[in-house]
Amino acid sequence: MSIREMLRAEGGALHAQVDAAFGRYALHSRSDYTAFLQAHAQALFGLEALLERSGIERLLPDWAERRRTQALGADLQCLQVAAPQPEVFERTLDEGECWGVAYVLEGSRLGSRLLDRHVGESPDEGVREARAYLGHVPPKGAWPAFLERLDHAGGDAALHPAMLAGQRLAFTIFLAAGRRYAPGTAPLP
Ligand code: HEM
Repeated sequence: MSIREMLRAEGGALHAQVDAAFGRYALHSRSDYTAFLQAHAQALFGLEALLERSGIERLLPDWAERRRTQALGADLQCLQVAAPQPEVFERTLDEGECWGVAYVLEGSRLGSRLLDRHVGESPDEGVREARAYLGHVPPKGAWPAFLERLDHAGGDAALHPAMLAGQRLAFTIFLAAGRRYAPGTAPLP
């Protein structure tokens, strides 16, 4: 079994929970879409910064073209809302954990593509125009290239536990943010 297959098998239940949490946002509506972006920002800003402090560029040399913090920040500005306080992490990640977190962030683009099409059909022009994050385009062939590097790194079975732990960490952060900003709940700072 490749590390990608292991990650998919282990992460399936968490992905379903994340999907369900974000499924509660009515993305055509400006208030829900704004809350959705704030939730993603809270998770993404912290996780991307954490990856950078942990040396992700050593593992993914084209990281600068993959990061989406700026795109998401621009969307929030476009909608005139403040960026949320990102999750703060005390320590850095080891190599295996970096792969696990990066897998979740890169994998999230698959869902983003579907959501981008849906949000693009909003009757609210302000919503339609704030899609830099969901519509972010990575370098050509970024996903297969990522999977190749991931599987190559996963050739070292000693990294597997950390890779799985990184995946759990990233999904858990997204899940918590998705629930925190969910429509019908009072958003926390
Ligand atoms: C409403 C929100 C979401 C929808 C509709 C969605 C949808 C999808 C879809 C259609 C796939 C492809 C499944 C396949 O080809 O087998 C996928 C895979 C994936 N998604 Fe999501 N997703 C959502 C949110 C997220 C979020 C927030 C994250 C990360 C925080 C995430 C991480 C992943 C990962 C890691 C994969 C697996 C990639 C792989 O190895 O094939 N998804 N998602």
